[in-house]
Amino acid sequence: MAKKSKFQAIKGTRDLLPPETALWNRVEQTAHEVFATFGFGEIRLPIFESTELFARAVGLETDIVGKEMFILDREYDNKTSSDLGHLRETINFMVVSSANQQSIDSFRQALSKFLVEYQEALHEGLVYQYEHAHVSVAHLAEALSGFAGLLELPRADNRWQDLFDKAVYDCKEYLGHILLEGTNALRPEATASVCRAYIEHNLQQLPQPVRLYYLGPMFRRERPQKGRYLQFYQIGAEVLGGSDAPAIDAEVIEMVMVFFDKLELQGLQLEVNSIGCRDCRPRYVELLRTELLKVKDQLGPDSQRRIETNPLRVLDSKLESEQPIIATLPHIADHLCEDCAKHYAAVKQHLELRGVIYRENWRLVRGLDYYMRTTFEITAQGLGSQNAVCGGGRYDGLVELLGGPPTKGIGFAIGEDRLILSLQEGNKTQPKQTRDVYIAWMSEQAYATAVRAAKDLRNAGFRVELPPTEQKFGKALSQADKLGAKYALILGQDEVAEGSWTLKTLADGTQTKFTEPDLLEHLRKSR
Ligand code: HAM
Repeated sequence: MAKKSKFQAIKGTRDLLPPETALWNRVEQTAHEVFATFGFGEIRLPIFESTELFARAVGLETDIVGKEMFILDREYDNKTSSDLGHLRETINFMVVSSANQQSIDSFRQALSKFLVEYQEALHEGLVYQYEHAHVSVAHLAEALSGFAGLLELPRADNRWQDLFDKAVYDCKEYLGHILLEGTNALRPEATASVCRAYIEHNLQQLPQPVRLYYLGPMFRRERPQKGRYLQFYQIGAEVLGGSDAPAIDAEVIEMVMVFFDKLELQGLQLEVNSIGCRDCRPRYVELLRTELLKVKDQLGPDSQRRIETNPLRVLDSKLESEQPIIATLPHIADHLCEDCAKHYAAVKQHLELRGVIYRENWRLVRGLDYYMRTTFEITAQGLGSQNAVCGGGRYDGLVELLGGPPTKGIGFAIGEDRLILSLQEGNKTQPKQTRDVYIAWMSEQAYATAVRAAKDLRNAGFRVELPPTEQKFGKALSQADKLGAKYALILGQDEVAEGSWTLKTLADGTQTKFTEPDLLEHLRKSR
């Protein structure tokens, strides 16, 4: 067995290798082509941006911002923040074990000390002042008190141990999200960046709406599993400015479906919903909160917390025991204001006009704060529990929230990793063929001809393997086979002398002789 190398890709990240990368390229090429037919142009964005951009756009109560962002450190600018930074590092390195009471006590004491000293420093203006500092503090305080509460419970089962591990993890994550200095973060998504760019480059001066798309890696500190990575790839598109006509929502959704159809992605399910606007949603959220408080005792700790922070997110819950309770909650569709109800009805009509098949899902609220009205999600086959391959929605007002003019917006992002997984499951992968022609040359005299043949074939667009050293005939053919070549071009002394080359089709073993120009013609035709 090969010795394991000391260095391996970090868990949750991965190398993408050939031939799989050919499939990635095909997917991306199809995106470029399809999106261009809908009038979209590509935008390339930085991989990291100010942490606060994401905090403000995506929302503080979301998991993405609250605990999943990769925040990049900067130099501390004074002694107080530096001392707090060191204390934080010490806490992060603590190994906390449920079997070791002393480790638990030290962890809790150090966290409490951090909280007290940080709040004092914040008050006195000795650390970085930022908009949502109080929310970061509240998160950490809540995580710490959740941990304390857990320690009071009987420790009988594995579930308790899981909760213990999660509580320690949460404390460290929320601790990490207190900004001791202005920081940048690896982008967890790109809608915020597109809006930032729209403002920065005055794109509102262009004919509206502006249609942009992007491809690239995103970063979220999630627990890795099939279809969920720390570094993953998105293909996304945004329509900014102009009107909020329901036809725009429908066309954006139609475009994703056309793209998926082109790729022959199987088992697609499109779900749509409307989550209302600034007028009607708060009323619904209050109603939901009231109803949830009545059944609070029957809900798990996450949902209980969300009753206060963001009751809509309770609808997202996958917890088995909560499903019958959620089923009895009021539906948002019954509480939309007149304009939102009309908009939602029109979006559905426009989808039908375009022949897009959808299902309504009143529980589809999405995990990012910027959405309003239309939300949608698409699932595909073969992905297990992480089966959302695309998510999106309308976010009128986000540009304004980031300091720009009032602007309408709608868009989506496709999880490219999941898209590829689903294509592979559906056997829609390209054949494993990685070469068209393997040039089996024998003898020094044949080599110059082989080099010329390789050049001509490559110029004509064929994928050619030219072995660098002479091989025996049998070895050459088996090598051609292993590489999945379609043909072997046999060039021995005789072939070169006669000017008549032998082409062997590897699938059936047939051989045909060709002159040099005829060979190229034949290969072109059989492409
Ligand atoms: P999102 O739902 O957070 O939306 O992500 C979109 C898609 O990215 C998901 O449906 C999933 O396929 C993929 N994805 C998310 N996290 C991971 C992960 N850890 N590993 C693998 N794939 C993942 C957004 O990001 C919004 N910016 C979409 C949007 C654009 N809304 C409006 N415009």
